[in-house]
Amino acid sequence: MAILEHLTSQQAIDLENKHGAHNYHPLPVVLSKGEGIYVWDVEGKKYYDFLSSYSAVNQGHCHPKIIKALTDQASLLTLTSRAFHNDVLGKYEEYVTGLFGYDKILPMNTGVEGGETALKLCRKWAYKVKGIEENKAKILFAENNFWGRTLAAVSSSTDPSAYADYGPYLPGFEIVKYNDLSALEKALEDPNVAGFMVEPIQGEAGVMVPDEGYLKKAYDLCKSKNVLFIADEVQTGISRTGKLYCCQHENIKPDILILGKALSGGVFPVSAALADDEIMMTIKPGEHGSTFGGNPLGCKVAMAALEVAVEENLAENAQELGELFRSELSKFIKTSNIVNGVRGKGLLNAILINDTEDSSTAWDICMALKENGLLAKPTHGNIIRFAPPLVITKEQLLDCVGIIEKTLIDFSK
Ligand SMILES: Cc1ncc(COP(=O)(O)O)c(C=O)c1O
Repeated sequence: MAILEHLTSQQAIDLENKHGAHNYHPLPVVLSKGEGIYVWDVEGKKYYDFLSSYSAVNQGHCHPKIIKALTDQASLLTLTSRAFHNDVLGKYEEYVTGLFGYDKILPMNTGVEGGETALKLCRKWAYKVKGIEENKAKILFAENNFWGRTLAAVSSSTDPSAYADYGPYLPGFEIVKYNDLSALEKALEDPNVAGFMVEPIQGEAGVMVPDEGYLKKAYDLCKSKNVLFIADEVQTGISRTGKLYCCQHENIKPDILILGKALSGGVFPVSAALADDEIMMTIKPGEHGSTFGGNPLGCKVAMAALEVAVEENLAENAQELGELFRSELSKFIKTSNIVNGVRGKGLLNAILINDTEDSSTAWDICMALKENGLLAKPTHGNIIRFAPPLVITKEQLLDCVGIIEKTLIDFSK
C-alpha cells in the first residue's frame, strides 16, 4: 500500500490498529502538530494539552530554543557511541551535575533505563561499599510504584496488568506500603537491604501525594540504616511539582536521583542517574552503558531543555498556577456530585471521579473534554490526571478550568 500523504484521523487509527501491537489504548485523536501548550489534530482542531506526554513536554511543544539545539547539533554530529569521546558530553555533565548538586551523572535514554541504572548502582554499592554478602542485596519499592516496563520494573510492580504472565520475576525486591513510615522502618531492620526506590509523588498510581514530612522521615530512616534513598523523579522532576525536583520540597538530596522525560523537553529520549562518587565510582569501564547514552544530540537537547526550565522560571509558574488550579477546582467540587476531590503538587494534579475504580466514567469524561478542546487521560477508571506544559499562563489556565468545569457539569446532567 502506498504511504498516504494526508491521513484522516480514522485512516491513521486504522493503520495503527492493523500494523501495530495493541499495547496501548489511546484516546481516538490523531495529532500532527504541537506548539507550546497546544496540539492540533490532522483535521486541524486545536486542543489544550493537559497530559504533556506524561510530563515529558514540561517546556511546551517544540520549544524554539530546544528545537534549535536539536537542529544545530543534528547537522554536526549525532552519535559517536562511548567508544570515543565527543565534545558535548563533558559540558553537559558539568552543567547537569552543577545544577543538581551531584559529583557525577550516568547518562541513559529512557526513564526505565535510568531506573535500571540506579538499581545496578545500588547493588554494586551494596557489595563494594556496604559489604553485603554476594547476591543477598535487597531493594525496597513502594506499593503501586510505576517506573517502566522492563523485566526489573515489572518484577517490582504490584499491578497485575504490568506483571502478569511475564514471570519468572527478578529476586531481591521487596514491597512496602507507600506513605507508611512504620512499614518502611520494619523492612529496614533487614541488614541486607541496600536501597529504597520511591516516587516522591506516585504519578501513574493516580497522583498519590504522600503526607508532608514522609519523604524526609523516609530519607532519615534510610540514613540510619546505611540504606540508599533512591528518588524516581522521572515524572516529578524538571519543575513539574513546583521545584526543580520534587524532593527539594522537603530539602532532601537523594543518594541516587533518576531523571528522564522532561530532561529533554520531550524532544529526544534522554534520562540520567545522578549520584556522588562513593556510589557512582563503583561501576567501572565496561560494567554498564548504552550505545545512545551520552550522545551529543541528546546532550545538547537536554542542556537546552534544562536552561529553558531555569530561564523561564517553570518551577515558580508550576507552583503558583498549581495552587490556583486546585483552589478553583476545590470551589467547583463543593457544588458538584461528580467529582470527589482534587490533589497534586505544582502542575501535577488529578481529580477523583465519584464512581468505582473499574468504571469507564473517567474515560468518558476525557472523551467529552476532547470534544471541548482539552486532552487529558485517566490513570484509573475514576482518576483523571491534569498536567499541562509548565509554560501555561494564568489566563490560559483559567480558560482550561472553565472547559473542565463545563464538561463536568454537562456530564452530571
Ligand atoms: C515515575 C516514572 N518512572 C519511570 C518511568 C519510565 O519512563 P520511560 O517510559 O521513559 O521508560 C515513568 C513513565 O511513565 C514514570 O512515570
